[in-house]
Amino acid sequence: PPCESFAGRLLRWHASGGRHDLPWQNPRTPYRVWLSEIMLQQTQVKTAAPFFERFVTALPDLPALAAAPQDRVLALWSGLGYYARARNLHAAARHCVAEHDGELPRDPDALIALPGIGRSTAAAILSQVWGDRHAILDGNVKRVLARVHGIEGWPGLPAVEKRLWAIAERHVDDPLLTPARMADYTQAQMDLGATVCTRSNPACMLCPLQDICVARLEGRVAELPTPRPG
Ligand code: ADE
Ligand code: SF4
Repeated sequence: PPCESFAGRLLRWHASGGRHDLPWQNPRTPYRVWLSEIMLQQTQVKTAAPFFERFVTALPDLPALAAAPQDRVLALWSGLGYYARARNLHAAARHCVAEHDGELPRDPDALIALPGIGRSTAAAILSQVWGDRHAILDGNVKRVLARVHGIEGWPGLPAVEKRLWAIAERHVDDPLLTPARMADYTQAQMDLGATVCTRSNPACMLCPLQDICVARLEGRVAELPTPRPG
């Protein structure tokens, strides 16, 4: 029915269209999910997966990462690019050993204070590991929300990003999103943006949001999200 919520649609879709056998989902530890989210910030799932396996085999937990010399960490990152991610990861691990008993903090503000972890990455980690109720807003989710809600303006603009965050926060405030479902909800949003609501030629016919999507209903899928000006 068209009145079904955004979260309800994504949860139902996740069972059939979402990804369930990613290496960091099993076992789903804070360290493994954190590492995966850092790798996935600029790298696609298919590319990141073998690097993830190599990295966690060599450095299986946070104390091992903190104790490793930096050149070892950078060597394990080689091929992934954006090496600031590896340096931040290493520094964050050492900070957790010094300040958080060798564990990744569950408090969102403490997590965001670590190098390399912004608001969306913190939310992705906490929702997937603990089932805590946090909204994510990465590039893929911005595109989905801009289309579904018909939000004009380049999502890189602070005013537009603020609107998108408000919408993401509204969607996460849904009674369907119990702690047991939060990981699937987060994963479903990322998977929908990566595999169905793609930048060009999105597969609207396969989309669980097609009958509430403003861009689709108004024939504006190709215009949204608004491209970067200039
Ligand atoms: N991008 C960032 N996090 C991701 C995840 N958990 N799955 C797929 N793509 C992602
Ligand atoms: Fe994206 Fe199409 Fe789904 Fe709208 S209906 S969210 S444009 S895939």
